[in-house]
Amino acid sequence: MRIGRRALLLGTATAVATLARPCTPRLAVAGEGSVIRRLVAAERRIRVPSGDGPEVAAWTFADEPLPVIRLRRGERLRARLENRLPEPISIHWHGIRVPNAMDGVPYLTQEPVAPGQGFDYAFVPPDTGTFFFHTHCNTIEQLSRGLAGVLIVEGDEVVPHDAERVLVLRDWRIDAAGAFTPFTSDAAAAKSGTFGRLRTVNDRVVPVLDVPAGGDVRLRILNVDATRIAELGVEGAEAAVIATDGNGLPPVPLTSWRLGPAMRLDVTLRAPGPGQEAVLYDYFAPEPVPLARLRGTGPARPDRPFAPAALRPSNFAEPDLARAEKLRLTFQATAIASEIVLGDGQVLRLADNLCLSAATYWAIDRRSWPEQGHRALPPLFELALGRSYVIELVNATQYQHPIHLHGLTFQVLDPRQGAVGQRADTVLLGPRDRTRIAFAADNPGDWMLHCHVIEHQETGMMGWFRIA
Ligand code: C2O
Ligand code: CU
Ligand code: CU
Repeated sequence: MRIGRRALLLGTATAVATLARPCTPRLAVAGEGSVIRRLVAAERRIRVPSGDGPEVAAWTFADEPLPVIRLRRGERLRARLENRLPEPISIHWHGIRVPNAMDGVPYLTQEPVAPGQGFDYAFVPPDTGTFFFHTHCNTIEQLSRGLAGVLIVEGDEVVPHDAERVLVLRDWRIDAAGAFTPFTSDAAAAKSGTFGRLRTVNDRVVPVLDVPAGGDVRLRILNVDATRIAELGVEGAEAAVIATDGNGLPPVPLTSWRLGPAMRLDVTLRAPGPGQEAVLYDYFAPEPVPLARLRGTGPARPDRPFAPAALRPSNFAEPDLARAEKLRLTFQATAIASEIVLGDGQVLRLADNLCLSAATYWAIDRRSWPEQGHRALPPLFELALGRSYVIELVNATQYQHPIHLHGLTFQVLDPRQGAVGQRADTVLLGPRDRTRIAFAADNPGDWMLHCHVIEHQETGMMGWFRIA
């Protein structure tokens, strides 16, 4: 019966409604059904900000610019991608521990999906939480034009919230007439990256979201921008961080939280009283920038202490820290990527390699891998299936880097931003910062590891590793 009902939701008609769908507690039973979605990547003329902005020639996966796919724990997603764009694409399911063949990385895990062609993705996400999906081809342009969506796997609430809101942060690189401005430049790629002029939440400018007055509201906040790091905080309401990258953690009061590109933050917020507003801010700028307003509506809930409940733990495979092998990766700036010394002492000159992009500004352990490099480089490391690893991530640059690993969820060993026991797929390194992550290498395949400031990724701060 569930299969039948969900199958009727083919296409995209329900996605907008689900952005504001209230949470209802439901039982999750493994293997109970499938959710089927057709994602047709095409150019669509949309208004940005949505509703009243100029027309923009966006590239999106669906008629509504930010499709939201919801699964319950144990459900299978069957997503049919059709490419009606003039260039190759793919879909990467960011943060989902998919089988390697479903990871959507051109050349590493699949052929790019050529114009006019399609690809079927099918998998059961092993974890609950807040995820997203995006292309992994010419990403700076494709992501900036809009190719992204939200994937939510429900079933992690022990104590249900009174309501839920999804807040997607992204900049639009458009001018006042709606024309795209340059997605990248050499100067920006070598520094913090290119920022969009128009900052949006759910493609609106400081939207007002109604929330039940005095209720406990779950905010699923996603930073899907290619560049911008936000320092999130709330004024006018109590709030606590309950999950990072979809993984529950012991709730910590939200003072401010730095959310880099690709990172997600789940927050429980005690909604303000009837007619009152709480404001979500970005404190990263000299003057705090309001991002969204949350307005209490309906009758006030009775007064009671704010005591956010922890989410149900995910299926995280605990690393064996005592026996873990230790590795280190250093993230560097490089004026020109010169040469790579291979394991056997052979020297590979990048200039001789195939399909290199001209500019490389960044490197991991002195290797640069531009997007067009295909599989020219050897893996950063090879991990034994089933073993545990601790990797020290060292930032040798003056810039911030949100470092992301495909295929795995890791534990952040060093407390960061006041949170202990944080699990994540992306960790933000500050300038000259370092941190250790740990995981059990339980997902076999070839996986990417890269900075999620997309211009850094595409100018060298990218590599891959093998679990076998
Ligand atoms: Cu969301 Cu390879 O990235
Ligand atoms: Cu990923
Ligand atoms: Cu970076």
